[in-house]
Amino acid sequence: MRAYDIILKKRNRSALSREEIDYLVSGYVSGAVPDYQMAAFAMAVYFQGMTRAETLDLTLAMVASGDTVSLAEIPGIKVDKHSTGGVGDTTTLVLAPLVAAAGAPVAKMSGRGLGHTGGTLDKLEAIPGFTAALSAAAMIRAVREVGVAVVGQTANLVPADKMLYALRDVTATVDSLPLIAASIMSKKLAAGADALVLDVKTGDGAFLKDLEAAAALAGAMVEIGLGAGRETVALITNMDQPLGRAVGNALEVEEAILTLQGRGPADLEALCLLLGGEMLHLAGIAASPAAGQEKLRGIIAGGEGLAKFRELIRSQQGDARVAEDFSLLPRARTRVPVKSPTDGYVRRIKAEAVGRGAMLLGAGRETKDAAIDPAAGIILLKKIGDPVSAGEPLAELHTGHGPLSPPVEAARRLVLDAFECGAEPVPQPPLLLGRVDRSGCFRRINNG
Ligand code: URA
Ligand code: CA
Repeated sequence: MRAYDIILKKRNRSALSREEIDYLVSGYVSGAVPDYQMAAFAMAVYFQGMTRAETLDLTLAMVASGDTVSLAEIPGIKVDKHSTGGVGDTTTLVLAPLVAAAGAPVAKMSGRGLGHTGGTLDKLEAIPGFTAALSAAAMIRAVREVGVAVVGQTANLVPADKMLYALRDVTATVDSLPLIAASIMSKKLAAGADALVLDVKTGDGAFLKDLEAAAALAGAMVEIGLGAGRETVALITNMDQPLGRAVGNALEVEEAILTLQGRGPADLEALCLLLGGEMLHLAGIAASPAAGQEKLRGIIAGGEGLAKFRELIRSQQGDARVAEDFSLLPRARTRVPVKSPTDGYVRRIKAEAVGRGAMLLGAGRETKDAAIDPAAGIILLKKIGDPVSAGEPLAELHTGHGPLSPPVEAARRLVLDAFECGAEPVPQPPLLLGRVDRSGCFRRINNG
């Protein structure tokens, strides 16, 4: 077999065999296939696409490139959740303890933020003392004892994805549906869960800006899950504004705690209930996703979700008193309001621009090894549908930089431009746009 012939075949729009895909992926990881051939292959896939069978084969070849985690020692059905590219998406912080409090074991491997999207590990590490550096064995022990652990990915999980993603990033081949689907699903399959709930975002700030593209990605990922023997369900959700009010690490920890206390932003709570309901259903704990949601509402009201969050923090060496005392979290020195220039109603808040603004304030990293400021971020004081008057603050910037420094001024402009206001009242935007069920069937959700 030769890499050249495989690239040519894909360029000419033929479907590749499993052996050909295995050859290319394992050759790339071993160094036998050079970057320039893999780059040409990625571009061929970008233009010619892949069949469902090829996409599954690519995913499995990527999984086989490194270590896989076995969660077999944890009793029960282990359900994992993945959200694609959210801004201010605080769901994992809420869901991990919430679902665990309902009796479903949660063994979560998470990543760090890059660019305009935040990472769950960075958020949790804003809690003083918290560590995500647990070995797979320590994670399994923690889940057996506490019911939940959130840890960093083991170093050798899907090395093919690390290499291929870096290559795609510099060859304009990131936004290829089969490559995204294989990239995400390879990491989820390698992390060992029995079942998966996917939250595929559409709108500004997501890779796929429209519902059709998001539904296609969701369908492709559910098919991969099914092909790999894992029950998988996907929700397609709206990112026409960031989720909740907080964007930034310590700020989102605070928002997660409020949500577990039943005092969180309505959209964040609603999405956590939707995703958590699906998780409890797949875990065999609830008879339907709706019954799962009901159960979770009771757990929020009874305070067991917050109690589980405290246990999770303690089990990973963090200061659990943050659950009662937000002043123990890192706080920004400088707060700068972003004031509305006009009267009107908020129509849209471009999530990607808000995410980039938070990054400039210090909340995110531009490059993989950059440091972040756990206290930095943005609080949205207005959301879609809210009335505003001229001079009223739309948002508050939290930063360690000086209030008049260039990055803060740039962030202020970005956030100001992210807000679109109009003269007419605006209805609340729908959160849930569609669902792909575990047989791979897409249904658009009619929001009235
Ligand atoms: N996230 C991933 O992990 N991979 C992609 O290709 C895109 C988003
Ligand atoms: Ca948020």
